[in-house]
Amino acid sequence: MEFKEVVKRRRSTRRYTGKPVEVEKLREAMELALLAPSSKNTRSTRLMAVTNLEKVHALGRLRDWGASLLEEAGAAIVVLGDENASPMWQTNASIMATILQLALVEQGLATCWVHVGDYLTLKDNPDSQRSEDYVKELIPEIPADYRVWCVISIGYADYTPKPLPDYEGPDRLLFL
Ligand SMILES: Cc1cc2nc3c(=O)[nH]c(=O)nc-3n(C[C@H](O)[C@H](O)[C@H](O)COP(=O)(O)O)c2cc1C
Repeated sequence: MEFKEVVKRRRSTRRYTGKPVEVEKLREAMELALLAPSSKNTRSTRLMAVTNLEKVHALGRLRDWGASLLEEAGAAIVVLGDENASPMWQTNASIMATILQLALVEQGLATCWVHVGDYLTLKDNPDSQRSEDYVKELIPEIPADYRVWCVISIGYADYTPKPLPDYEGPDRLLFL
């Protein structure tokens, strides 16, 4: 697939067919994503593939809004960052997560970013569990010194998302 097509095809996809996601496809995309740049080459980001469907679907409860799409996903990749390795760990993780999404699209898969960061599990309850702690409890294999930045939801799309609407105007691109 041409790079241009990969970029255009990537849309946040929240409904999947249920067709199993091949681990080899995940591995290939993850290996490509590891080539992402990082501040001072600190390589502070780690990726953890989750293919156990019970766990993937339980990730859908990491927040009570915007995460339930994971309940039908075929796989997930947890994007982890080492905050001691770089003060730019969040930026590094975001760059890798984006490249990962594009690499998964090239494998014919559909994705959606589900954010974790500093969110809480319950939007209207400031005393609720942190989403990050929920994920770490669910997946105890996550190394204790890694932060959870986001989860990439993965599956085969059960519809063809429309292409992004046309670029809306000149104000976001400036040429001097
Ligand atoms: C940093 C970031 C966080 C996001 N968090 C979520 C999320 O928690 N849940 C969700 O359904 N979509 C999430 N998205 C997807 C955005 O809603 C989506 O990218 C945006 O609406 C544009 O649509 P598109 O990705 O199809 O172009 C996130 C995207 C980014 C880049």
